[in-house]
Amino acid sequence: MEKKRAQWGSKIGFILAAAGSAVGLGNIWKFPGRAYEGGGGCFMLIYLCMVVFLGAPLMLTELSVGRASQTNIVSAFKKLGHKGYSWVGWIGVGGAFVITCYYSHVGGWVLRYVFGYATESPKIYADSLGYFYEMLGRHADGTTAFPWAAILFAAVFMVVNAVVIIRGVESGIEKFNKIGMPALFLLLLVLLGRAVTLDGARPGIRYLLSLDWSKVTFNTFLSALGQAFYSLSIGMAIMITYGSYLPKTENIARNTGLVCAMDTLVAVLAGFIIVPAVFATLGEQQIGKGGGFAFVSLAKVFEQMPGGTFFGALFYLLLLFAALTSCMSLVEGIVAFLTEHFSWPRKGTTIAVCAVMFLIGCLYTCSQAAYPIKGIWFDAATGVSTPAFCDAMEFLTDRIMIPVCALGCCIFVGWVWKPESAVAEVEQNGVRFTLAKVYSLIIKYVAPLAILTILVMSFATGMTLS
Ligand code: PHE
Repeated sequence: MEKKRAQWGSKIGFILAAAGSAVGLGNIWKFPGRAYEGGGGCFMLIYLCMVVFLGAPLMLTELSVGRASQTNIVSAFKKLGHKGYSWVGWIGVGGAFVITCYYSHVGGWVLRYVFGYATESPKIYADSLGYFYEMLGRHADGTTAFPWAAILFAAVFMVVNAVVIIRGVESGIEKFNKIGMPALFLLLLVLLGRAVTLDGARPGIRYLLSLDWSKVTFNTFLSALGQAFYSLSIGMAIMITYGSYLPKTENIARNTGLVCAMDTLVAVLAGFIIVPAVFATLGEQQIGKGGGFAFVSLAKVFEQMPGGTFFGALFYLLLLFAALTSCMSLVEGIVAFLTEHFSWPRKGTTIAVCAVMFLIGCLYTCSQAAYPIKGIWFDAATGVSTPAFCDAMEFLTDRIMIPVCALGCCIFVGWVWKPESAVAEVEQNGVRFTLAKVYSLIIKYVAPLAILTILVMSFATGMTLS
């Protein structure tokens, strides 16, 4: 006897949860740096096109596969009559697993910084790099130790995730997002108000609104596309799983539009926080997009900003909400698969899988600065290399697993299950999907070609898409 499947309790609940998954660290610390690099307004325009023409169709595809099959990402293909495509699901769930290992640890560092700003900001300002390294287990004198601080906070972060997931789809994820997402928007607006009213913020705002096409290269397009997929949580177990909890009465096309719009809005607003704030304090050359930027350079911004310590704590709180709601969507994708595929109980499965991911994540954190743990990598540009374990994990997901899973979904829906089936799923319950023709063309031809280009280019040039 099959148990009754979980469902979202309300329309807004689903939208906030899906937007919560999409809005994450990628929006807040990667997007602004990429926007700066890609010429401000130009990048934002290109990004918008990527979201509209590729991201949204793919999200719609995943949601419709999920709702049509009413099951997790691996079983979805079998349920729709094409067991041979289950590998796409395995890659998706595998990608979600690897990402959670490190996303949860980075979430832990963010939590550490919320406390750091709230209680010991002078220490951060005095030596921001030293403070960051200290957390990761490297002391100022060059000696190293087990990174207790980072690991303990990561454990707390993971426990919060596990508790929410154990509570289930409606009383856990949905409830959390109904509070977390409005809080996130509020924090975003407060920080935006602070950033754009800083003395010297104007050139930053102008930069983001200007169209300087000289900074745009082929890589700008790839960077925008990679960012769009990552930001919309596409190519993992997530949107298929979240779609499977949608009632047939929901309009998937409209929901896709809303979620994409919210995700993009948050990214753009984050751009208008970070870029003007950095222009006003550090100078424009200092804008970056990696962890070093988010944890180290930004300290100087908050140090120089009036009320900076308060706004610093708020900023990391914003990141914390963003990271939590994204991370729980990853865990849900994995737990939904394990509990349905192997008929395991939800509570025990969540605890076990979170514990394993946390432990693997410890290697990620340890390999940052404390210990020389290496991974292995291969691409045409550098051949076989042994990057730090943490980098190898990110390469694996960003350059291979996410694009391959997204490509598999396109091929499956474009050529096997057929776009007409996805359209029929969208049109359940009397909904009219006016863009059905365009959607079919994109999913059959445009999206697979674009993803293939990302895959080939990142292999050929060894570039980082994260
Ligand atoms: N979309 C999230 C972000 O922008 C990242 C994420 C990736 C979340 C994969 C879940 C799954 O940070």
